[in-house]
Amino acid sequence: MALVFALLLAGPPAAHAASRDAGPCAGQAAARHGHIAAVLDRRAGARRTRGQLGDARADRRRSRWHARLARYYGEQALLRPVPRGTAITYRTLRRSRALRRSFLTGFEQLTPENEMKMERLQPAPGVFRFAEADRMVRFARRYCKRVRGHTLVYGRQLPRWATDGRFGPEQLGFEMEWHVRTVMSRYAGRVAEWDVVNEAIGPDGSYARNVWFDALGKRYVERAFRAAHDADPSARLFYNDNGIELPDHPHTVAVRAMVARLRRRGVPIHGVGIQNHVSTAHHASEAQLARTIRGFTSMGLNVAITEMDVKLDPPGTRARRLERQRLVYRAAARACARNPRCSSFSTWGVGDGVSWLGPMAGGLLFDRGYRRKPAYSAVSRSLGSPAAP
Ligand code: XIL
Repeated sequence: MALVFALLLAGPPAAHAASRDAGPCAGQAAARHGHIAAVLDRRAGARRTRGQLGDARADRRRSRWHARLARYYGEQALLRPVPRGTAITYRTLRRSRALRRSFLTGFEQLTPENEMKMERLQPAPGVFRFAEADRMVRFARRYCKRVRGHTLVYGRQLPRWATDGRFGPEQLGFEMEWHVRTVMSRYAGRVAEWDVVNEAIGPDGSYARNVWFDALGKRYVERAFRAAHDADPSARLFYNDNGIELPDHPHTVAVRAMVARLRRRGVPIHGVGIQNHVSTAHHASEAQLARTIRGFTSMGLNVAITEMDVKLDPPGTRARRLERQRLVYRAAARACARNPRCSSFSTWGVGDGVSWLGPMAGGLLFDRGYRRKPAYSAVSRSLGSPAAP
């Protein structure tokens, strides 16, 4: 293990993958893992001749894993797919080897599921806790995965101090900007893409009531983006929202109007994240989602599908429901891949056992045992991803 670790760390630091292009980083990772596989394989041979059969078998197993990673990164470097992303919690990343393996050959991008939210990063005023987020960013970069930062300004998952009324509007505005600046500066150059503001608009198209809106009015959105850009001018800044898949829904219309206004005012916003939490019975068609995406990209913005899951609705056998799910995923992946400004495609979790919707929702690309579901290959094929046998 120490040998493998040393070899892994000896490689050049992962260059950050901008846009869809992970060429050099993936290429280096392919070479590195190919090298590790060869070293382990030679050692396995030597151990076998010395009669250390158990150790030899373990080396062989590890060698096969690194060879698989090498093939995966090699393909990635060649194919330059639309990155597949997923959300992971620090806990499951640490605990589950099966999850890590599915992630490493099944996705090119990582979103910390909760670890970069304000309640976690700043539990008391001025007290920042970066350890878990830092480790996740380090893990991702070691394996040439992009990181989506999620999320700086959100009405939920806030620390008590931000909502208990101890601060007046002016102080809250200052705290918000300071939070944004502190977090953005810490990850400058390492997290290339951020959900700066999350879910600012409600389903009826009006601004969602939350502590930021109540204190500062709708201008809080603009202030958050400006502070983020100030702290890391190289980061791509996104507005992220739920329930905006249908092009003519009041929620989508209102988000379009808001980002158009921000652009007119010269606010540094570069993209819109469409969460796309849907189900087999309720979802946008490929044509509808394509139109929604175009509504944003025609303004010069990028779009990302940021949190997709497709809950399995009754009726039907499991096989039929999985087939419906495959089609819903494929439609979304195609709508994204066919628009050159759709920059990544993420699900909200790797496998059904760790979904935020609970284990019965069945909405993700891997099942509870981390086996690939039919939707997995449909998404991968649509995005041009490595096949990773
Ligand atoms: C969810 C997490 O997945 C849960 O673990 C947590 O308890 C609540 O938040 N939209 C978002 C995400 O933008 O941050 C939410 O994540 C899911 C809905």
